Amino acid sequence: MKIKLLVLLVIVMLLAPLILWRLKAQVPSSFAESRRRMVQNQLQARDITDPRVLAAMGKVPRHRFVPAYLAPMAYSDQALPIGQGQTISQPYIVALMTQWAEVRPGDKVLEVGTGSGYQAAVLAELTDRVFTIELLPELARAAEARLKELGYHQVQVRIGDGYQGWPEEAPFDAILVTATAPEVPPSLAVQLKEGGRLVIPVGRPGFVQQLIRYRKVAGQLREEARLPVMFVPLVKPAEAK
Ligand SMILES: C[S@@+](CC[C@H](N)C(=O)[O-])C[C@H]1O[C@@H](n2cnc3c(N)ncnc32)[C@H](O)[C@@H]1O
Repeated sequence: MKIKLLVLLVIVMLLAPLILWRLKAQVPSSFAESRRRMVQNQLQARDITDPRVLAAMGKVPRHRFVPAYLAPMAYSDQALPIGQGQTISQPYIVALMTQWAEVRPGDKVLEVGTGSGYQAAVLAELTDRVFTIELLPELARAAEARLKELGYHQVQVRIGDGYQGWPEEAPFDAILVTATAPEVPPSLAVQLKEGGRLVIPVGRPGFVQQLIRYRKVAGQLREEARLPVMFVPLVKPAEAK
């Protein structure tokens, strides 16, 4: 009896590294599979048709941009909390905003509301000139570190007020605002290039807002598309204190 137990113990000890190795190998491949299904069922099944956007969404590891306890839900069809009362947007909304921004290689893009850094990483798959501003220092620092760790060295992160834009780097080919404002911040309109695209949720926090895609034509913002959405507020720094 004792010998049988001993043999069993030895077998388990010998097999343990193999079992652990298999489990470890399965985790990334299951995330990759969840991501593939997300692209197919949440993006292609709706109206995301730009192959470059689909490829970017299929590549960026969203599970690395959410708190570890939420990683199993990273590819579900919903926004998720990222701490500090903020959220990472639903994958479909990230893809739609990216598609509406029509980012081409070499374009200069500004994102307002870095949050986790996920939208910035998706943009960085499309151009190597991405600038992103976050009001909350803790989120900005965490996003910057995460983006570097994942190899997105081309993304520049700034702690600051997105209402002001990034005048030193303007003008931009595209500007994406990932928090809702009562109206288009005037500085952002100024910092958009002629022909540039501005994608922004407009409306009151806590109510249904309109995600609007504008294009700058003859110096004026021309509305081209809109969709009802719910976003966290674009905070005026004075209100944050
Ligand atoms: C919906 S979250 C952004 C999600 C983010 N794009 C991502 O991919 O994880 C909105 C972000 O806007 C930030 N924010 C709010 N007001 C801001 C402001 N005035 N300037 C810059 N960022 C601001 C919030 O702190 C929050 O992180």
